[in-house]
Amino acid sequence: MCGIIAYTGTRSCTDLLYQGLRKLEYRGYDSAGLSVLSGGRIEVIRAVGNMDSLEKELEGNGHSDARLGLGHTRWATHGRPSTENAHPHSDCTGNVSIVLNGIIENYVNLRSELAANGHEFTSETDAEVVAHLIENHYNGDLLEAVRLTYADIEGHFAFCAIHSGHPELIAGARKECPLLIGVGKDEAFIASAIPAFLSETRDVIVIGDEELFVATPAGVTIMDLEKNELEREVTQVNWDVDAAEKAGFETFMRKEIYEQPDSLTDTIAGRLPDGGGVVLDEMAISDEVLAGIDKIYIVACGTSYHAGMVGRYVLENWSGVAVELDVASEFRYRDPVLSPSTLVVGISQSGETADTLAAMRQARKLGSKVLAITNIMGSQATRDADGVIYTRAGLEIGVAATKSHVAQIAAIHLLALYLAQARGAMSAGEIDGIASELKAVPELLQTYLRHEATTHEIAKRYYQQPFFLYLGRGVGLPVCLEGALKLKEISYIPTEAYAAGEMKHGPIALLDEGSPVVVVATDGHVYDKVISNIEEVRARSAAVIAVATEGNEGIKAYSDDVMFVPATSELLSPLLSVVPLQLLAYHIAQLKGCNVDQPRNLAKTVTVE
Ligand code: F6R
Repeated sequence: MCGIIAYTGTRSCTDLLYQGLRKLEYRGYDSAGLSVLSGGRIEVIRAVGNMDSLEKELEGNGHSDARLGLGHTRWATHGRPSTENAHPHSDCTGNVSIVLNGIIENYVNLRSELAANGHEFTSETDAEVVAHLIENHYNGDLLEAVRLTYADIEGHFAFCAIHSGHPELIAGARKECPLLIGVGKDEAFIASAIPAFLSETRDVIVIGDEELFVATPAGVTIMDLEKNELEREVTQVNWDVDAAEKAGFETFMRKEIYEQPDSLTDTIAGRLPDGGGVVLDEMAISDEVLAGIDKIYIVACGTSYHAGMVGRYVLENWSGVAVELDVASEFRYRDPVLSPSTLVVGISQSGETADTLAAMRQARKLGSKVLAITNIMGSQATRDADGVIYTRAGLEIGVAATKSHVAQIAAIHLLALYLAQARGAMSAGEIDGIASELKAVPELLQTYLRHEATTHEIAKRYYQQPFFLYLGRGVGLPVCLEGALKLKEISYIPTEAYAAGEMKHGPIALLDEGSPVVVVATDGHVYDKVISNIEEVRARSAAVIAVATEGNEGIKAYSDDVMFVPATSELLSPLLSVVPLQLLAYHIAQLKGCNVDQPRNLAKTVTVE
């Protein structure tokens, strides 16, 4: 977790660093800080809280002469959020300053060794050891000190360091956590993610895993751990700068909910050609291998896991392959039975989630083919996989995933059709029939979004309720799990989501007069079963809020409120039915006055296990 940025160049950099951190805030926002070289000294400015707190701290404190500096926005792992624990961290002399993303696993030993040698620590963090190790190793050569420090530390991390004796130099390294360089004219930015410098340059160099770098205004050098220079291409990113802004919406989350039709259109684009069939350019796993697989194992976390759960129903039905599913944090510590004929699918919006990456690596070690479904080009997940399906949801800033989730579901639909094609499990005509339906979904979703007001009205009726139960069957179950997760994470209202048929085995005891029960009751082969479960809920005088298929007027007799979604076939329906649940959570959270873009305790990218 955490976002880092560094600058070296000819411009005054305090504001550049601050603006960059604003764009990285989604990675953590419990404290933030900057260090700049000003008047020959390293000045450190830090604050607890989000970037607004740092902004206040910077007022009248801009150090306009600074041309070299570091910035950090933190999501606490070791040490509570406090000014002392906020980055950047310094050595004993104040000559060294560092920012770090990740975890130093052996910091306890390193810290006690350093302390025994007279180093004084001012924070409870693991990261501070890096500043002191650099101090120890420094002999006039910052890069060499960084290299030796890298060799001392264990874990996964990316860090940048500056030294007051080198007014133009940034040195650093990365292991598993991301680090990119934005190259400008007589300047360079180093950051955890591209948005941090996108308004300044589109020329990007990716620092590889287990590599070192140095940057000055004159240029950038990437090296292996023996300091051998490595060739690196500069790539041009074509992202829209405005994508990182709210574009007139009051929150990123609502903007991103409204971007879902585009996110779907882009994810499908070019992959279901008019001439028929399914094309997945980055699949890189041959049809022969896919034809021979006998099991699919899906691993993911959170919202991505819920997309994977939709995948279980779709993949089994269309490709005929047995599917297992696990949250990555459990999978990696079990003894999963995998073989070369298992296809492991890791789903991760960020492509950086530590548990998902570990599960994918474990699967590869056991000889299985690994496919990544991710939204981020070049992310670690793409490097830990044999093949990739990119979701093309664009930059997602809201911590609660929305548009990336529907794109993940669509990517799974594409994968299921692709497998069906490779394995001959469906005829070309059947595949093309589903492809046409899938292509129609973005337009249906656009139409649905025009009815947001209904959901807002429903939210007004229920937002003060202390608990919500969600029930669904078949593909309605993962939709419920996702709806319940959205509500709890952004409104802090406790929720429970259950397979509707399981309700009578326990959760029904939670129901009381007026308890809100959200039921996904879209058309499908289990619809009548869901209605029976609704009857059970109503017999306990609970209030039913149904998600149903447009045209099903009969549902009104069974529910207190209904959110209608356009009709599509059952296995495609989660692409539509999850959206009213996103909006219900959104409006309830807004009515409760919660910060939906930055829910407490959460971060967008979870690079710690
Ligand atoms: C919830 C949410 C999280 C993520 C989870 C995995 O709204 O966004 O549950 O889905 O942290 O993240 P990725 O998909 O980046 O691996």
